[in-house]
Amino acid sequence: MAQWLAANVELSTAKVHVTETFIKASPNHWKPDDFDLSSVRLDASLLHITKTICLLESRCDDYAEYLQAIFRDRDASWTSAIERWNVEECQHGFTLRTVCESTDPNFQFDESMSAYESLVSYHEPTGESVRGCVAAEMVSRCVVEALASALYRVLADAATDRNVGAVYTALAQDEARHYGMFMKMLSAEARADPSIGFWTRCSFALKRMLELEDGQIMFASCIVAGRSQQPIRRRREANWYLAKLYRLYRWKHLRYAVRMLLPVIGVRANRWLVWPATALIWTAVKVRLWLAQIANRVSFLPADAD
Ligand SMILES: [Fe+2]
Ligand SMILES: [Fe+2]
Repeated sequence: MAQWLAANVELSTAKVHVTETFIKASPNHWKPDDFDLSSVRLDASLLHITKTICLLESRCDDYAEYLQAIFRDRDASWTSAIERWNVEECQHGFTLRTVCESTDPNFQFDESMSAYESLVSYHEPTGESVRGCVAAEMVSRCVVEALASALYRVLADAATDRNVGAVYTALAQDEARHYGMFMKMLSAEARADPSIGFWTRCSFALKRMLELEDGQIMFASCIVAGRSQQPIRRRREANWYLAKLYRLYRWKHLRYAVRMLLPVIGVRANRWLVWPATALIWTAVKVRLWLAQIANRVSFLPADAD
């Protein structure tokens, strides 16, 4: 599988090089075999978060198919960029799966993935944007990639295993490159349509951030925790999952995210704006963590590894 992925990365690089302008193939792009994941150690919280993200990343083909359908009338620079992005996202899923299987030999990836796909449907690749327009899709992707990059930095700082930390760091760098790719696409779209201004971008970005507690993540968390046979209560799962995750966030992680998010809404990330925006998000994360911890005290869900 690793060889197959490596071959696809190389093929994709060669294929994309001719026309791509949105994303550059990194000359030193890593391969799954670059990491020694034969014996890694993760604590229970980090393992659960990694399993959850592994399912999300492994749905890479659905995400790419949906975007390719929306871009079907665009030139090759758009579709080839998505091809390269897709290969790298699939590589993320594969590498995280290796991390999880190495830490927990009982992790049933195939079963978890099929349960996840049957439980949570993704947007149909009809060519119609569920968010209304290409600009909204690009803002949404920029937000997701920025937050993913920050998340992997959080996990890299939390991991005590050096090899797993190196994986998270590589993934954080990839997500930052993906952010750059979608920012270029967003800029191209904004040049063609001047109506995509500050407030429009804010509205698209806010909507996407409010989706962070939606079923996609929480159902994945539920499945890897072995709770999907019971009635799923999304809010309760969110409290359980976010209590594990948000306690790992530090100021520097949120400042990093803010520096990427401000340009998405068309605002330069200068220090006069970064500090108050980071304070706002830091407060929101701490309040959400506090609410989740209180909710977990009155819930029957185990608070293990907290
Ligand atoms: Fe990814
Ligand atoms: Fe990404």
